[in-house]
Amino acid sequence: MTTFETYLETRNGTVLDDDLVVVLRNIAEATREISDKLRTSSLDGLTGATEITNVQGEAQKPLDILSNEIMLEACRRSPSVSFAVSEELDSEVAIHGDGKYAVIFDPLDGSSNLDVNVTVGTIFSVIRASTSGEILKNGRGQLIAGYAAYGPQTTLVLTVGKGVQIFTLNADGVYLMTSADAKIVPEAKEFAINAARRSSWDDAVASYIEEAIDTGHNMRWVGSMVADTHRIFNRGGVFLYPADRNKPASGGRLRLLYEANPIGLLVEAAGGAAIIGTSTILDIEPTSLHQRVPVIFGSKNEVDKISAAYRERI
Ligand code: AHG
Ligand code: MN
Ligand code: MN
Ligand code: MN
Repeated sequence: MTTFETYLETRNGTVLDDDLVVVLRNIAEATREISDKLRTSSLDGLTGATEITNVQGEAQKPLDILSNEIMLEACRRSPSVSFAVSEELDSEVAIHGDGKYAVIFDPLDGSSNLDVNVTVGTIFSVIRASTSGEILKNGRGQLIAGYAAYGPQTTLVLTVGKGVQIFTLNADGVYLMTSADAKIVPEAKEFAINAARRSSWDDAVASYIEEAIDTGHNMRWVGSMVADTHRIFNRGGVFLYPADRNKPASGGRLRLLYEANPIGLLVEAAGGAAIIGTSTILDIEPTSLHQRVPVIFGSKNEVDKISAAYRERI
């Protein structure tokens, strides 16, 4: 099986250069470290919540803070990284003055699942940015996107410009390639949505969900975007976190720069679709680091049905 290291050396058709290889190697090392910390968090007092509220208004978990520090350290060890942007940090953090790549990340996705031993993840994106003014660019400006899913296995899902590759961590801490060209099947009868928020759905989403239930679709909702995404990579389906129709300006729950954009790039690179309604996620022009957007992605035929439902209501 191909190791992650070997894969990094096969650069043709990818965006990889010597600098990005170093960045990716350090990010992969960070995910290994986070994976280790998670395995024994209850034994190490890394559970519960701190008294600290992050810029999102969420009570930070000890592992949010620890994972954030591990990812920041990976950026510091990469000389070409100019800035780090994190869910857990109010604004961008300058890393190396002569850096040319910004690393944007959700250090721990699905924190509400930490104490109940359910899959969580790390989401990351790498863009070209030498100044802070270059950070707010649309998702098609991403060079690299990926996530690590910390579940029964630890898997790394990555796009470096040539489809999507999946790696699984072995007992020796080596990522081995388990898929060289992952694809999302265009059709699947399974949706992921937090059904408790049904009263806040717009008509397009409500009508799609109603029809899906009437036609025998299954429902899964993990509460970790990474876990729901990984299931969709594995067997297809659609994930929806719509905006609240009663608070449209809020944009929804998920953040554009370090959740919707990296997942959107991976999903499109695997033949799926990722929209906010009638437009794609990757074409949204960001206006702020922690901007929230509605998120709908997954099997292309299913997402196209939802997009059509929006178009009918224009
Ligand atoms: P994070 O833990 O990084 O703040 O992200 C949590 C997100 C996402 O992972 C998940 O899909 C969603 O929150 C779950 O939202 P609800 O708790 O409203 O279902
Ligand atoms: Mn959070
Ligand atoms: Mn998240
Ligand atoms: Mn998070």
